[in-house]
Amino acid sequence: MRPDTQRDSQFKKMGGAVSAGEDNDDLIDNLKEAHYIRTEVVEQAFRAIDRADYYLEIYKDNAYKDLAWKNGNIHLSAPCIYSEVMEALDLQPGLSFLNLGSGTGYLSTMVGLILGPFGVNHGIELHVDVVEYANQKLENFIKTSDSFDKFEFCEPSFVVGNCLEIASDSHQYDRVYCGAGVQKDHEEYMRNLIKVGGILVMPLEEKLTKITRTGLNTWETEKILAVSFAPLIQPCSSDAGKVRTVQLPSVSIGTLQDLTRICIRRTLKNTINQDKSNGGVPPKAVSRFKRRRIRRRRMDAIVLVDKQVFASRISNPFDNNNNNGEDMEDVRRDDDEKEYNEFKPDPPLNLLREKILSLPLPEPLKLYLLYYRDK
Ligand SMILES: C[S@@+](CC[C@H](N)C(=O)[O-])C[C@H]1O[C@@H](n2cnc3c(N)ncnc32)[C@H](O)[C@@H]1O
Repeated sequence: MRPDTQRDSQFKKMGGAVSAGEDNDDLIDNLKEAHYIRTEVVEQAFRAIDRADYYLEIYKDNAYKDLAWKNGNIHLSAPCIYSEVMEALDLQPGLSFLNLGSGTGYLSTMVGLILGPFGVNHGIELHVDVVEYANQKLENFIKTSDSFDKFEFCEPSFVVGNCLEIASDSHQYDRVYCGAGVQKDHEEYMRNLIKVGGILVMPLEEKLTKITRTGLNTWETEKILAVSFAPLIQPCSSDAGKVRTVQLPSVSIGTLQDLTRICIRRTLKNTINQDKSNGGVPPKAVSRFKRRRIRRRRMDAIVLVDKQVFASRISNPFDNNNNNGEDMEDVRRDDDEKEYNEFKPDPPLNLLREKILSLPLPEPLKLYLLYYRDK
């Protein structure tokens, strides 16, 4: 049973409606409140990755709105779409995942936090510049984000190519997502990318569709919600009619050294958690101060059209001549700001990093255990 039928019917008519957040946590609070995010594991992955990090600097102000964003070849779907996709994929540690049209790598990075070090995380993207952008964002995440140490990460590998030209002898995956509209003609091709027991989520005929492979020749289909995505770009006919194929990344098994690092980090994390529960470590810095605004009197209703950044706000009497609602919000904001400064939390400690740095080990080994991260 869906938790919120009103939300669904709204979706079917015109897309999602979640009010804009002030920061990433606020956006996730809104997605939870509207039941787009429903499970703890998905919530944690969304909180761990700041959506604004995937925007170009000048557009970051829009990152916490429930809107798709497009600039040149770079394209992000709306947060409520990603929430539904992440929930529908039912991700588990150790699974293999293929992202068709992997774009900026935002989704693949969130997925990697759930798959953990023994999963497989592959993406295929048509545009070279977008794959370069995704690799740069991935490097920033690995180098600078504390989330990297809070989770065990399955690093995504991206290849350039048309996802409709995947070599027919490629391995199958436990989970597949397609980030662009699939034509009915390609439904069977897509279905065959998943293993028996696997799940495929894709926009098919204007519906976000979840297909579960129940047997070698059997699939179950569920329409999740009405959406509008730009269609997958069709392969160009190659020279002399030759069939082009794209090779997906190979599945590599970690070295013994890599496995040892994973085990040592796990053991240290367990020790930290035990210390915490025995009261041996100072209590966590005051949890994120929540600048919970008084809910806006007006609700931004957003038409989620993934083809472009299309959004329209249903106009409201407050919008035009009467800005009393805004004034009241400003007063509240001033109060909030004062309160925030008084209780400003200390920056969160990265306990794993501190622990590793305090170990009586040679420096190069500590750096190895820290994945050579700067932060
Ligand atoms: C909405 S974006 C996906 C964004 C992605 N989910 C993310 O986290 O950034 C759709 C992507 O599909 C890519 N695309 C479209 N047709 C494709 C094709 N035939 N093969 C591979 N990628 C394709 C586009 O270039 C675009 O980057």
